[in-house]
Amino acid sequence: MGELAAGIAHEMNQPLSAISNYAQASKRLLQSASQENELKVVAALDKICNQAIRASEVINRLRTFVKKRVTQRELVDLNELIRETVNLAKVDTRILNHEIILELCHHNKPQLIADPVQIQQVLLNLIRNGIDAMEHIKGAPLHIHSQWLSDVMIEVSVIDYGHGIDVETGSSIFNPFFTTKETGMGMGLAVSQTIIHAHGGRIYFGPGRPSGCIFSFSLPAISDSQKDIEK
Ligand SMILES: Nc1ncnc2c1ncn2[C@@H]1O[C@H](COP(=O)(O)OP(=O)(O)OP(=O)(O)O)[C@@H](O)[C@H]1O
Ligand SMILES: [Mg+2]
Repeated sequence: MGELAAGIAHEMNQPLSAISNYAQASKRLLQSASQENELKVVAALDKICNQAIRASEVINRLRTFVKKRVTQRELVDLNELIRETVNLAKVDTRILNHEIILELCHHNKPQLIADPVQIQQVLLNLIRNGIDAMEHIKGAPLHIHSQWLSDVMIEVSVIDYGHGIDVETGSSIFNPFFTTKETGMGMGLAVSQTIIHAHGGRIYFGPGRPSGCIFSFSLPAISDSQKDIEK
């Protein structure tokens, strides 16, 4: 949550300090009143308005993410949650251009103590990012894989065959409002990271083979004793 707050503070700070600078300049211009200065004050006031709109847009964009909802942790069947989320993701019809391949831990069913809505939000973000990255690669599949990392930790991976992430982009993707997409908000991964950390897990990514990305998160989980893989 600290990183998210720092990113938001940074984003808000820019328009607010611009507003303060333009207001101070206007005050100085008014003190030495002339017709020329009057025009400059009008231009500065326009800039103040624009920057204030920018600041309120940041707040509005945030509102859509930080909906007030009491977090409710409950026992959640992870495989079921993944299947439900894939169905939900189909609302975005672009997903129909791709085969979604599930490779889930089957017999040793992982159970989470988690807020299912939040975990679903993380998965949806990762699925949408994978589909975005493969937008121009019709037919490329998206894999969703789960595996036990230890007796008490499960890992879920979303594997795409898209354009991948270069080193420079990779260093910023978890920052709030960082996006390379025309219509992106850049909040998907920042919010996902906050959710996963709050559940005691980690979220990370690496290169796919031969192309694309693997985004994974780990979470504490309760298990039976037997393990198998469902293909
Ligand atoms: N699977 C992926 N393949 C390639 N790049 C990715 C992938 N996932 C994330 N990225 C990069 O990370 C950036 C940040 O992702 P994030 O989900 O936080 O925001 P976004 O998708 O741009 O917007 P939104 O807020 O709508 O999710 C993306 O703009 C993209 O550049
Ligand atoms: Mg996203």
